[in-house]
Amino acid sequence: MVKYAVIGTSWITQSFVDGAKISDRMKLEGVCSRDENRGRAFAEKNGAQRVFTSVEALAQSDIEAVYIASPNAFHTRQTKAMLEAGKNVICEKPVTVTPAELEYLQNIAEKNGLVYVEAIMYMFNPVRDVLRKALAKIGEISSANLDFSQLSSKYPAYKRGELPNIFNPQMATGCLEDLGIYCVYPALDLFGLPDDIKASASFMASGADGSGGALLKYDGLSVNLTYSKLGQSRSPSQIFGDEGTVLLDSVSKLTDMKTVFNDGSEEILCGDVPKEQLMGYEADGFADIIENREKNKEFYSLLRKTALDTSRVMEKIRSQAGIKFDYKPITEE
Ligand SMILES: NC(=O)c1ccc[n+]([C@@H]2O[C@H](COP(=O)([O-])OP(=O)(O)OC[C@H]3O[C@@H](n4cnc5c(N)ncnc54)[C@H](OP(=O)(O)O)[C@@H]3O)[C@@H](O)[C@H]2O)c1
Repeated sequence: MVKYAVIGTSWITQSFVDGAKISDRMKLEGVCSRDENRGRAFAEKNGAQRVFTSVEALAQSDIEAVYIASPNAFHTRQTKAMLEAGKNVICEKPVTVTPAELEYLQNIAEKNGLVYVEAIMYMFNPVRDVLRKALAKIGEISSANLDFSQLSSKYPAYKRGELPNIFNPQMATGCLEDLGIYCVYPALDLFGLPDDIKASASFMASGADGSGGALLKYDGLSVNLTYSKLGQSRSPSQIFGDEGTVLLDSVSKLTDMKTVFNDGSEEILCGDVPKEQLMGYEADGFADIIENREKNKEFYSLLRKTALDTSRVMEKIRSQAGIKFDYKPITEE
C-alpha cells in the first residue's frame, strides 16, 4: 500500500482520491492546502490523518508519494520540491509547462530512484489496448479527427468579469493545456511523432486560448485535432480506415467507443466507465510502478517518452498558434 498525500483540494483531487480508494493500492495520509480549514475538511472527509499548509512542510514529512493537482504554473516547482525530498510524484496534466522542465524533472526522479508520471487517464486505461486492436481491423488509416470541445463550467464566471485560473495565462493554462493535450496524447500514442504541424488558436480577452486546432501531418496520414472550452461538441471523434471507422465518444476516457465497418455492421469496443474508475486505473498504475519497478520497466519508459513527446508537440503548437504565458520555466536552481 502506497501512503500518499495530495496537493490541492478541488473536485479533481476528490476524483483521484475516490479512484485510489477503488484501486485499493494507495492510502491517503495527508492533504496539503493553502488553507488549514479547507485542508482539514478534505482530510476528515477522506480519512487522512495529516494536514500540511505548505509544500515545504509536506516535503519534510515521511509521506512516500504525492498527487499534485494545483494550477499548471505550480506543477514544476512543487514536483521539484517533492522529488528532491524523496517522494514519488503523479502530477496532473500538463505535467510541466515546457519540455525542458519535464526533462529536468525526469532526470531528478531518475537520479533519486523515484517514480514520476503524468496523471493522464488515457495512458493508464486498459481500453487503450482495445483501441489499438480495433485500429488494426479497419484497413489502411488515412485520416483522423480527434476533438475535445467542452463548454467550461467556469465560463459563466469569466463572462461575469471574474478570472478563473483556467482562463488566466499567468497560470499557464488555456484550452490547449487543458483539453488539447487530451487530443495530442492519443495522436502520438497511436501514430507517433508527426513530420509536420500546422496549428492555430483563437484568444479570449484575458489572453488565454479559448479554442484551437492543430493538423498533424504524417506520410499518408492527416490527424486533425480540435479543442474548445467555449462550445460543446455533439459528435464523436473518428479514425477513418478504408474498411471501417472507429468512433470515440471521449478521447480522454475512451468510453462509448465502437467500430462501424463498411458493410454497416458494428462492434462495441467500450461502454460507459465512471470517472472514478478511470482515475483508479491511474492510481493503480502509479502504485504498481512504485512497488514493481522491474515488471513495469517498459510501461514506465513508454509513459516517460510519451509525456516528453507530448510536451514537445504542445510547445510547437503553442509557438505556431501564438500561445504565450507569463511564466519563467524552471530548469535549474
Ligand atoms: N484529469 C482531469 O480530468 C482534470 C480535470 C480538471 C483539472 N485537471 C488538472 O488539475 C489541475 C488543477 O485544476 P483545477 O481546475 O482543479 O484548478 P484550481 O481549482 O484552480 O486549483 C486546484 C487547487 O490548487 C490550489 N490552488 C488554487 N489556486 C492556487 C494558487 N493561486 N496558488 C497555489 N495553489 C492554488 C487549490 O487548493 P487549496 O486552495 O486547497 O490550496 C485548489 O484546490 C490542473 O493542472 C488541471 O489541468 C485535470
